[in-house]
Amino acid sequence: MRILSGIQPSGKLHLGNYLGMMRPVLDLQDRGESYIFIADYHALTTITDPKLLREYTQDVALDFLACGLDGEKAAFYRQSDVPQVTELTWLLSTLTPMGLLERCHSYKDKIARGLTANHGLFAYPVLMAADILAVQSDLVPVGRDQKQHIEVARDIAIKFNNQYGEVFKVPEPEIREEVSVVPGTDGRKMSKSYGNAIDIFGPAKGIKASIMRIVTDSKTVEDVKDPDTCNVFALYRLLASPAERHAMAERYRAGGLGYGEVKKDLARLFDEHFAPFRAKRDELEKNLDYVHEILRKGADRARTLADATLKKARQAVGLE
Ligand code: ADP
Ligand code: TRP
Repeated sequence: MRILSGIQPSGKLHLGNYLGMMRPVLDLQDRGESYIFIADYHALTTITDPKLLREYTQDVALDFLACGLDGEKAAFYRQSDVPQVTELTWLLSTLTPMGLLERCHSYKDKIARGLTANHGLFAYPVLMAADILAVQSDLVPVGRDQKQHIEVARDIAIKFNNQYGEVFKVPEPEIREEVSVVPGTDGRKMSKSYGNAIDIFGPAKGIKASIMRIVTDSKTVEDVKDPDTCNVFALYRLLASPAERHAMAERYRAGGLGYGEVKKDLARLFDEHFAPFRAKRDELEKNLDYVHEILRKGADRARTLADATLKKARQAVGLE
């Protein structure tokens, strides 16, 4: 089985990215052949500072490797090192109905947030389809906000296959429901654009401060509390073991537990979980040649596959 996923280099990695996308992708590493990439072409739709793009691209590479990506097993690469996807994007574009793209929530949300409606932003899902179809991937693990884009990729693949004969495998999304929407410190979806994120590799003080800022109701220590409606518990349960989760839920229901105490315990869990990754990241940062070598080898593997797919697609449409 072939598994593919990508992440845009568009800011610091936060807990929502890690639990919703990165960990599911890393967990699948052993179930098949993984293709994991840094979507730098996509990031150009929102980042126009070249220095920042380079910095974020390196950050994602370090983040993924620090969190456990096995660069010898998975093909880990930068999207722009596989330019075949841009040619494939054009072939797919000519079959993509405008209406399909006009319906995409992500596009509509970005416009609503004030981004200028450029063609790259509009065509974003077609480039995504090309990423997926170029390597003929079976499974695409993503957060729920990307599900519609995977459906677009499926629609385009089916349309192409119907028109020109079987060229593409039709991919399936893989969404882990329990982490499909990780809440931020204000209870809305955690997102770098909402200022409610807890960064994984930020300074320890800032992380602690974000955790202490999580919004709760105004119940007193003595009050009986409901874990299922609490923003702190919503994050706690994602990092705790089943036994810890159960014990904490009981303490909520018993009363006599303050939110401050839960936050402190969440900070402890966070630290336990991420301290080894932070150490690994520091080490990798001193060894950038190794990181670049992994990306180079990953790109070679992805290019070989994308080349073969592109050749088939070019023949199918009559360019060869
Ligand atoms: P952001 O919303 O911070 O800009 P991105 O849109 O760059 O994050 O998302 C990168 C990846 O992380 C996507 O696969 C997305 O589904 C996942 N993701 C982002 N935020 C969350 C969240 N709060 N819960 C679950 N998954 C998330
Ligand atoms: N759009 C995705 C995001 O913002 C990143 C991405 C680009 C991607 N191409 C992809 C994810 C292909 C999965 C498959 O998170």
